Amino acid sequence: MNPVDCMVRSARWEDLSNIISIEEQSFPPEEAFPPWIFTNILTLNPELLIVVDCKGSIEGYAMGVVEGDTCHLISIAVAPSSRGKGLGRMLLKSFESICKGRGLAKVVLEVKVGNIIALNLYKSEGYKVERILPGYYPDGSNAYRMIKRI
Ligand SMILES: CC(C)(COP(=O)(O)OP(=O)(O)OC[C@H]1O[C@@H](n2cnc3c(N)ncnc32)[C@H](O)[C@@H]1OP(=O)(O)O)[C@@H](O)C(=O)NCCC(=O)NCCS
Repeated sequence: MNPVDCMVRSARWEDLSNIISIEEQSFPPEEAFPPWIFTNILTLNPELLIVVDCKGSIEGYAMGVVEGDTCHLISIAVAPSSRGKGLGRMLLKSFESICKGRGLAKVVLEVKVGNIIALNLYKSEGYKVERILPGYYPDGSNAYRMIKRI
């Protein structure tokens, strides 16, 4: 997979099985969002479910919800074999521009304190730790709540 062959676009119904498969490969079962969440967002708020499409192959997605003046990034993942090639950054930037285009003021997200790769990505894109959420994850890990004004 060459990242120049990839583009970010809105998710479609036919992408759902690939999105769910990436979710299941990316998070432990107790942390993965169940399929109905993706169905729900695609029904109610489809602009906030985006995929990275590499010549017809779905290699990652980002998903969010609007909360007041805030976009909440609730999940982002890239297929394991396509990581480290810039697709996660592409998805994050596209997600932010969609939120900005909707007139929203900030993006917030939660990340496990030990998820160094995701933390590096968010910090390099200007996200700041707002607070620690103790025991946020099912395994008892803490989360950082991060925020970026857009
Ligand atoms: C987090 C994730 C979405 C990043 O996507 P990605 O396509 O691998 O990331 P990118 O290639 O765009 O890299 C973006 C930045 O992440 C960091 N990063 C990527 N791979 C890294 C690695 N192996 N070690 C340390 N930092 C790394 C770097 O800061 C990188 O920027 P750089 O290439 O300029 O150094 C992806 O790793 C993933 O799906 N992880 C599993 C699911 C997950 O943890 N999601 C986040 C939940 S909060």
